[in-house]
Amino acid sequence: MKLKTTYLGLDLKNPVMPGASPLVDQLDNVRRLEDAGAAAIVMHSLFEEQITNQQLAEFAHTENPAESFSEATSYFPSMEDYALGPDRYLAQISKIKEMCDIPVIGSLNGVSIGGWTDHARLIEQAGADALELNVYYVATDPDEPGTAVQQRTLDILQAVKGSVTIPVAMKLSPYFSSPGHFAKQLDAMGAAGVILFNRFYQPDIDIEELEAAPRLELSNSTELRLRLRWAAILHGHLKGDICVGGGVHTVEDIIKSIMCGANVVQVVSSLLKYGPSHIGSLINGLRQWLEEHEYESVDQMRGSMSLRNCPDPTAFERANYLRVLQLWKV
Ligand SMILES: Cc1cc2nc3c(=O)[nH]c(=O)nc-3n(C[C@H](O)[C@H](O)[C@H](O)COP(=O)(O)O)c2cc1C
Repeated sequence: MKLKTTYLGLDLKNPVMPGASPLVDQLDNVRRLEDAGAAAIVMHSLFEEQITNQQLAEFAHTENPAESFSEATSYFPSMEDYALGPDRYLAQISKIKEMCDIPVIGSLNGVSIGGWTDHARLIEQAGADALELNVYYVATDPDEPGTAVQQRTLDILQAVKGSVTIPVAMKLSPYFSSPGHFAKQLDAMGAAGVILFNRFYQPDIDIEELEAAPRLELSNSTELRLRLRWAAILHGHLKGDICVGGGVHTVEDIIKSIMCGANVVQVVSSLLKYGPSHIGSLINGLRQWLEEHEYESVDQMRGSMSLRNCPDPTAFERANYLRVLQLWKV
């Protein structure tokens, strides 16, 4: 039974990897992930704000010590709140590359066109085998059209791709009006893969303090369905790969993702809950399920539930909508 697969041009021993998270800030966790069989290590992100803050701090120190940062920067965490600053982040990639035999995927996270994208090259030089790009952006300006948001994301991808030779995958938002078309645009621009999807966090409100209250709740398997839908729609339409990330908690979640067309899955919440070694149970469970169901390989299963051969996916989705409403009986 072959669990082997490829993703972003990398040969992987199986299709299950941790997604970007603080787990890999500690090398003993990285060791446990690799020992448990993780197909690759995905780094925590290096954020645009960290890079520009460092550059601003250096500038302020050398050019204008009295100058204070603008008010907007006060919303952000202080530099000390990040586990790894930009230099330590690059050093961490090199250390992980040295200690691991599996591929290492860097992660760069930002929203504007600017010098921070040059860090893609430094991540490559530090030894990353591929790079994930996360443009986590909430379009707060009602005067900004969706086309402008998409164009900026494409421009960021182009800038990053222009500075590296390693494959670049894009972690996508599900909130584009036509995610499939946007994924195709990214694919045409040379994205080696798309990660479906970024998980957006909605702050709560503290009604006593009249403050926004950031809340981090881990996902559960119900969040997977949004990813399954889009993997199934996109399978067969992209040159690049599909990674399902978000709501992958069980062996069944992995199987569904691959059946919908995913090359690989990424897991975060369940590893934060049960620890890095839990990835081993998921991989063993996948192997066992495939054997029990007499599959010869993961590849054989991939795409069996995609909408690739569906004559009218729009009608299919509309029909499912109508059917689901009939499920509620009063
Ligand atoms: C504590 C925490 C930190 C995260 N940090 C990052 C990050 O640095 N970069 C990123 O692209 N995604 C980050 N994510 C998002 C995860 O990579 C993943 O996309 C998301 O948690 C959905 O997967 P899950 O349902 O398995 O948790 C983070 C998630 C959590 C819970």
